[in-house]
Amino acid sequence: MQTWRRPLFSHRRPNEKQPRMPQPILSTSRLRFDKWRHEDADLLFAIHSSPLIQRGYPFPTSAWTRNAVLERLRRYMGEHERQGLTKWKLSLLDGTFVGRAGWSPWGHQIEIGYAVLPEFQGKGIAMEAAFALMEWAQARRSEDLVGFCLVGNYRSKSILERIGMKYEYDRVISEAMHAFYRLSR
Ligand SMILES: CC(C)(COP(=O)(O)OP(=O)(O)OC[C@H]1O[C@@H](n2cnc3c(N)ncnc32)[C@H](O)[C@@H]1OP(=O)(O)O)[C@@H](O)C(=O)NCCC(=O)NCCS
Repeated sequence: MQTWRRPLFSHRRPNEKQPRMPQPILSTSRLRFDKWRHEDADLLFAIHSSPLIQRGYPFPTSAWTRNAVLERLRRYMGEHERQGLTKWKLSLLDGTFVGRAGWSPWGHQIEIGYAVLPEFQGKGIAMEAAFALMEWAQARRSEDLVGFCLVGNYRSKSILERIGMKYEYDRVISEAMHAFYRLSR
């Protein structure tokens, strides 16, 4: 079995000055969305190695090998470079990493998605991120906006409904039944 390497960030001493943060792609009163960097693999792994988070997806945590995480990181970086959107890195304004949130191409539409680290859940972070993402997409994109989640993922359903998406039907995606939502434009 492959083992995960020590986090890259642990080499920084506690009192060492934080590097200046770049301009975020999008921000809210509490959150910032940033593009991913090659050295962020540990952060992405931290999300998807959590069984609590993987309950929201049809794949077990064991599917998130080092190679799978690196591949996903490359996909996110490529989507951002080529299409100007992706599931961005999500942090508090002070740079504390809390998860990922954003849009991905879904055929001719774009699909919203979010995942919040367990210790930051239940504080309205996903809802705040999702509202900001809707505003961002409505202002900048013309595609239909879609979202989907496992049929039993009531938190995600609540978010999709609160941001104005309309439930269409249940359908199989990645071999699991999902509730599918859309905001037609
Ligand atoms: C779904 C997820 C992103 C929600 O993140 P979050 O920041 O905790 O969500 P929020 O605090 O903004 O709350 C969203 C909704 O979930 C409810 N909720 C959040 N935490 C809850 C908890 N511990 N118990 C019950 N309900 C909870 C909120 O009440 C809210 O619903 P409401 O507006 O009807 O009250 C998070 O649980 C997660 O990362 N899950 C795993 C990944 C996932 O499922 N992603 C979506 C895939 S489609």
